[in-house]
Amino acid sequence: MKLPRPELTIRPFAQFDSPEELASLVRTAYAPIAALGLKVSGASLTHETLLKRLASGNCLVAECGGKLIGTLLIRPRFLTPQCAFLASEGLAYFYQFAVLPEFQRQGVGTLLQDAGERYARRLGYTMVAGDTPEPLEHLVRYYLRRGRQIVDYVTWNTQNFRSVVTAKALSDA
Ligand SMILES: CC(C)(COP(=O)(O)OP(=O)(O)OC[C@H]1O[C@@H](n2cnc3c(N)ncnc32)[C@H](O)[C@@H]1OP(=O)(O)O)[C@@H](O)C(=O)NCCC(=O)NCCS
Repeated sequence: MKLPRPELTIRPFAQFDSPEELASLVRTAYAPIAALGLKVSGASLTHETLLKRLASGNCLVAECGGKLIGTLLIRPRFLTPQCAFLASEGLAYFYQFAVLPEFQRQGVGTLLQDAGERYARRLGYTMVAGDTPEPLEHLVRYYLRRGRQIVDYVTWNTQNFRSVVTAKALSDA
């Protein structure tokens, strides 16, 4: 399907947006990964978890023709025993990165990442990081092409795979 570019907007999630629509988009995007046997939280994202995530960070959405087709969440560093790197000073953690399957491979995800980096810089963050399931090698390579470096590996308690943690300084972006 060809993306109707003029109708595409990348913007912060707003009060008038529907959390249900956003949760459904995330579940739909992550479903094929769950089908590979990877226990990704996005595939079973509940309304309650989404609201907590929205409250703890900044959410960007891609909207096309009045429909939410993509999203990216940005949250500050946090303490976790699984990955000390994610508590680094100035770190913006990018997660819940999703584009509806019928809109994938048309650059929407890249527009969200670019906008996310600009947004994070404006918010005063100095570094961007995220983790990617190790089996999704194409995505790890994608982040490396975006200038990130592998800085750590993490296995979350709820997941059945290891993730690659990649990061880059925003000043170098
Ligand atoms: C990751 C995701 C958000 C990318 O969105 P997108 O709109 O397809 O992104 P883009 O079109 O800008 O493509 C970005 C890169 O994704 C990679 N990619 C996406 N889908 C792919 C696929 N099915 N096979 C191989 N590579 C793929 C490519 O490397 C591509 O870069 P390239 O075109 O320079 O090779 C989307 O594929 C998605 O929702 N996936 C499911 C959820 C997920 O994996 N989230 C990220 C977890 S870290």
